[in-house]
Amino acid sequence: MTGSLALPTTPCQALSRGTAADGTLAEPRCGRQPSSRAGSPGARAPGGGRSPAFPPFCRLFAARRNQTRGAGVALYMATLGLIGSGHIGGTVARLAVAAGLDVVLSNSRGPETLGDLVAELGPHARAATPAEAAAAGDWVVVTIPLKAFAQVPVAPLAGKTVIDTGNYYPQRDGRIAALEDGTSTESELLQGHLPDAHVVKGFNNIFFRHLAELARPKGSPDRTALPIAGDDAAAVAHAAELLDVLGYDAVGYGTLAESWRSQPGTPVYGLPYAGGQGDFPNAASTPASAEEIRKALAAATR
Ligand SMILES: NC(=O)c1ccc[n+]([C@@H]2O[C@H](COP(=O)([O-])OP(=O)(O)OC[C@H]3O[C@@H](n4cnc5c(N)ncnc54)[C@H](OP(=O)(O)O)[C@@H]3O)[C@@H](O)[C@H]2O)c1
Repeated sequence: MTGSLALPTTPCQALSRGTAADGTLAEPRCGRQPSSRAGSPGARAPGGGRSPAFPPFCRLFAARRNQTRGAGVALYMATLGLIGSGHIGGTVARLAVAAGLDVVLSNSRGPETLGDLVAELGPHARAATPAEAAAAGDWVVVTIPLKAFAQVPVAPLAGKTVIDTGNYYPQRDGRIAALEDGTSTESELLQGHLPDAHVVKGFNNIFFRHLAELARPKGSPDRTALPIAGDDAAAVAHAAELLDVLGYDAVGYGTLAESWRSQPGTPVYGLPYAGGQGDFPNAASTPASAEEIRKALAAATR
């Protein structure tokens, strides 16, 4: 069910990645694919899969590879779009800027309300509308209350890797029958709204302060792993690249239909990063290895 995602050690390993015969995600191969900035939509591959368009990281990485800032493994000259700039969005943005990415922030109230965060993040950050953030991102993180998923802009996300942090909390989001009866998952709802994007579930199972505190450079003995799931293997690998840049290993655990394994209340939800304590805001952050995350995912029941 789960596959550990060993991430690239050199910039030119940072692109295409296949699925090995045992179901784990294979080591990436060097290569280039057309940039998502060119606006190419996700073409349907033979067999029905979609082929995301990713930026030419080998070249981009090489331009800034010797700079080191923050916890990320190295600096990518690429852009992260954020739809939602609250607890998780703001945290991901801070990690991204620390790793050398440009970020484009957005929220529901308008770019003018994000001045403080933009000022804190510095020249690699700007605020925009959700549609502009979607268009600008090489990856786009959707990190808003689940109830707002239908407001996410559709057209500018075509062909892009969209990382969905959303969790279903009925007291906040209202009752959603398909989630109550288990016929869908949060990220399948978003994927249904974004048919030409490649949705990957990620960052949903870690308390935002722990996410800020547990980022480590690649190779650190206490590097933490985060689970990711998605229907498109290339997009899952692309999301894993982002996690690596931000300071995390990745554990793939299947399709969006299987992403219930990281939903609220499951063993992997917050607990591994909180020393097993359910009171996340008052729990010290605790590193969690890929093996721990894999075991927690496997222990989930529905
Ligand atoms: N907090 C955590 O530790 C944590 C951890 C993992 C996953 N999550 C999940 O991640 C998601 C975000 O959580 P959060 O804690 O970061 O929430 P949050 O702090 O309340 O921030 C939500 C952000 O979404 C924006 N937003 C709301 N509706 C929007 C819309 N229609 N279009 C664009 N932006 C919109 C808000 O902007 P405005 O303020 O302008 O409305 C705000 O910037 C939720 O599904 C949550 O369950 C949270």
